[in-house]
Amino acid sequence: MSLQSSLRCLWAGMALCAGASLWAGEVEVLHYWTSGGEAKSVAELKGMMAQRGHTWRDFTVTGGGGQNAMAVLKQRVLAGNAPAAANIKGPAIQEWAELNVLTSLDAMASFERWDEVLPKVVADQMKYKGRYVAVPVNVHRVNWLWANSAVLKKAGVATLPKNYDEFFAAADKIKAAGFVAVAHGGQDWQDFTVFESVVLGVAGPAFYDKALVKLDRAALSSDEMKKSLEVFRRIKGYTDDKSLGRDWNVTTEMVINGKAGFQFMGDWAKGEFLAAGQTPGKDFTCSAAPGTDKAYTFNVDSFAMFQLKGWEAQKAQGYLAYLLMGKDFQEKFNLRKGSIPVRLGMPMDKFDECAKTSSKDFVATSASGTLVPSVAHGMALSSAQQAAMRSAVSEFWNNDKLTVNDALSKLLAVSAPKQK
Ligand code: GAL
Repeated sequence: MSLQSSLRCLWAGMALCAGASLWAGEVEVLHYWTSGGEAKSVAELKGMMAQRGHTWRDFTVTGGGGQNAMAVLKQRVLAGNAPAAANIKGPAIQEWAELNVLTSLDAMASFERWDEVLPKVVADQMKYKGRYVAVPVNVHRVNWLWANSAVLKKAGVATLPKNYDEFFAAADKIKAAGFVAVAHGGQDWQDFTVFESVVLGVAGPAFYDKALVKLDRAALSSDEMKKSLEVFRRIKGYTDDKSLGRDWNVTTEMVINGKAGFQFMGDWAKGEFLAAGQTPGKDFTCSAAPGTDKAYTFNVDSFAMFQLKGWEAQKAQGYLAYLLMGKDFQEKFNLRKGSIPVRLGMPMDKFDECAKTSSKDFVATSASGTLVPSVAHGMALSSAQQAAMRSAVSEFWNNDKLTVNDALSKLLAVSAPKQK
């Protein structure tokens, strides 16, 4: 056996080299992928692990956006019972690594040249003190607007809105035709998903970065932020009165079933349209949220690997990490998930137009400096700051008595710790 294949055997749990069952182990994986499209994506992964004889144990905590999952994960790790892997994203990866509970994947990463096959912005987030502790599986674009083609046609909306004047004109027509103009699920992470797309569309990516990523006080109290909050609040007038607490996928169903015209949501929503047998460009459309076609809010799902006792468990975990970065998995999984492969240089011929646009725009915005991390999806702020921002924005969304200035003060209060 060559040195190269011997090394690969080490982290791939020997299963690549020996009879599968001999080296098989169990992986317990924490995730929150329970909707129709998400479940199909996870099934791809489970199948691939099973092919090598590994047993997959679901550690599923329902709740879109993963907040519930993170709370349960904390309890488990504190109790000394960490899973093999958990879907943890952005700066939270660093927070977990600081607690010294994650395992280093550096040997595999350097041998498999992850630095060369990953965009730098992603690779940096996967590392703690320069060492890989997590594996990315995709790139989700968050700043999308989904639309039901038949509803738009019936309402007489001929073109997708490129700015908020066009958006509200279209929403008025959809409402007048008897549909819900904007399907929205009233949960804080969904509120923030809409909010960050509005800030990006109203004030642009440089402002977004200053205000929402750097929490710059001048930006947070600026006229641009006021304008963004006003547009955000105006959108609420186009949602239905049963929105509060509704899950994102149930909300997407309203667009799929022709009850609603639009939804602001990341492209995991596309996984739902596809799982329902719909075709992009025909039954539904994907377009950048108004005013954001030259920008891109990215959200990278990744699995952090926890330190495990026991050789079999470690080998199964190693194989999972190896698999996740593989071309086969990256293609099959992302075809279902609605996202694009995070691995560079992957063929996109099997992907639909939405994914091709996303892939092209990811590269273009990365070159032009208009690629920004999604705050709503944990790519930019610490968990504490993110939670505080979310609750400020949701309070404003839910309580019509709060003024734009009230919301500005709450946002400024979040920025305070960063100014020290
Ligand atoms: C995002 C996550 C996606 C999807 C979505 C809904 O934060 O990155 O993979 O699961 O939440 O839960």
